[in-house]
Amino acid sequence: MSQDALDGVKACVFDAYGTLFDFASAARACRDELGDRGDRLTALWRDKQLQYTWLRALQGRHADFWDVTGDALDFALETLELERPGLRDRLMNLYLTLDAFPEVPDVLRRLKSAGLRTAILSNGSPGMLRAAVEGSGIADLLDAVLSVEEVGVFKPHPSVYQMVLDRLGVPAAAVSFQSSNSWDAYAASAFGMRVVWCNRYGQRRERLPGAPDREIRSLSELPALVGAA
Ligand code: LAC
Repeated sequence: MSQDALDGVKACVFDAYGTLFDFASAARACRDELGDRGDRLTALWRDKQLQYTWLRALQGRHADFWDVTGDALDFALETLELERPGLRDRLMNLYLTLDAFPEVPDVLRRLKSAGLRTAILSNGSPGMLRAAVEGSGIADLLDAVLSVEEVGVFKPHPSVYQMVLDRLGVPAAAVSFQSSNSWDAYAASAFGMRVVWCNRYGQRRERLPGAPDREIRSLSELPALVGAA
């Protein structure tokens, strides 16, 4: 895969969970209660959360990401026999204030100084995204925070990616979309966006429509790829 800069990018749009915000930070903050089961909880919670978004989209039975995240956590806590008083609420509250990955504020600042527009496009509900963005102090570095709640269906439904074009008023080819979720990266590419797959988790390439234009391991590699180094 070429690592040359992408031409003609006017807006950088980011997935939220796993890309800007570290969903593992919730279980990490509960190490006192979770012991060595924190990583397994994080993995199962995330897998189930994503499965529920896809299944609900397919069934046409939407519920917002807060409810889906809670349902997935209940499933994971029961599976790992971790149902303890107060633990669910503690983890859900921590999900509202997840840590941003360390490079995020600086990267957004560099993109903004180069005149690029910046936005989030996420499954997260507006309240969850507001809390995460404000908690990590990046609100001023984003031109838009777009939640799938506006269209009432989860990624990777094409109407979600269409929202970016409608709200930012740019063609798909002028958008660089960043996601650490391989399936999200492939779907945005199939939709027509340029895609930089931030493959933090060392995922394999998908056998799905689309082909990310670039692959990086950390967002700190992004500015150079969009002419904002
Ligand atoms: C999101 C999930 C997919 O933020 O990470 O949309």
